[in-house]
Amino acid sequence: MRVRKAIIPAAGLGVRFLPATKAQPKEMLPIVDTPTIQYIVEEAVASGIEDILIVTGRNKRAIEDHFDKSLELELQLGHKNKDELLGLVRDISEMVDIHYIRQKEPLGLGHAVYCARKFIGDEPFAVLLGDDVIKNKVPCLKQMINLYEEARYSVLGVQEVPPEHVNRYGMVEATTEREGVCRIYDLVEKPEVGQAPSTLAVMGRYILSPRIFDILAMTRPGAGGEIQLTDALRSLAKAEAIYGCLFEGKRYDVGDKLGYLKATVEFALERPDLAGEFRKYLKELITE
Ligand code: UTP
Repeated sequence: MRVRKAIIPAAGLGVRFLPATKAQPKEMLPIVDTPTIQYIVEEAVASGIEDILIVTGRNKRAIEDHFDKSLELELQLGHKNKDELLGLVRDISEMVDIHYIRQKEPLGLGHAVYCARKFIGDEPFAVLLGDDVIKNKVPCLKQMINLYEEARYSVLGVQEVPPEHVNRYGMVEATTEREGVCRIYDLVEKPEVGQAPSTLAVMGRYILSPRIFDILAMTRPGAGGEIQLTDALRSLAKAEAIYGCLFEGKRYDVGDKLGYLKATVEFALERPDLAGEFRKYLKELITE
């Protein structure tokens, strides 16, 4: 079966970005002028996803409004003959079918995914986390879907990380199948440096078999008292195959302040309308 549906969990508290996330979701923080969640939606659409479910929590109205039609704004832009901006605003609301569900309490990523079980039904699906913005010509999710279509089992997006950073990620125990593909046997969430089974880390992209819902239904709260997706994936790896896709692309951890700043600077340097002046400014700043 084709991967047609995707879940974007966006109900976390965004503690690392307080106070900015006190009254607005971290997924709406812009990289240059585009909210991070729009990059994620664009990646899903460019990968062939037809329906997206965003799992929202408190203070998430701004996300719904962003992807909705804004009649007054469109009218104003039309009156002022700002056709380019009008097209930009319209494109956002016409991109794809987006559905919403509320996770009533932030009980963990595993629980957020479980909230989507009725929307997904009995078919494979994608999960994309907003913390990971990945830039590549062939979208990361598309690369994973290509592998899924061959393997017909769950696929996790993985990348090599420096050994001293393993305590920031879910790390996998895996064997190499061929270049760019591994078979995953187990996972460890944020192991201590020196204790990880490999240097392959799970980035925020997953294609999952619907069997994960039965497992999540029985998964007890783990680290931090939250229902962890990693715990459910460990059980899934025992029941059926899971593959890792060593995807191509630069990944930015925009859930972290430094990662967010790096993404902002690099994305701005690629914008024809900003790059010239901005590069000049950065050079002056460094040589001061
Ligand atoms: P994070 O661990 O990054 O949590 O969740 P967070 O609350 O968003 O951020 P910090 O660490 O407090 O700053 C990973 C992903 O899972 C979603 C988050 O929105 C994020 O996309 N999530 C997490 C939920 O949807 N619900 C939850 O209960 C927890």
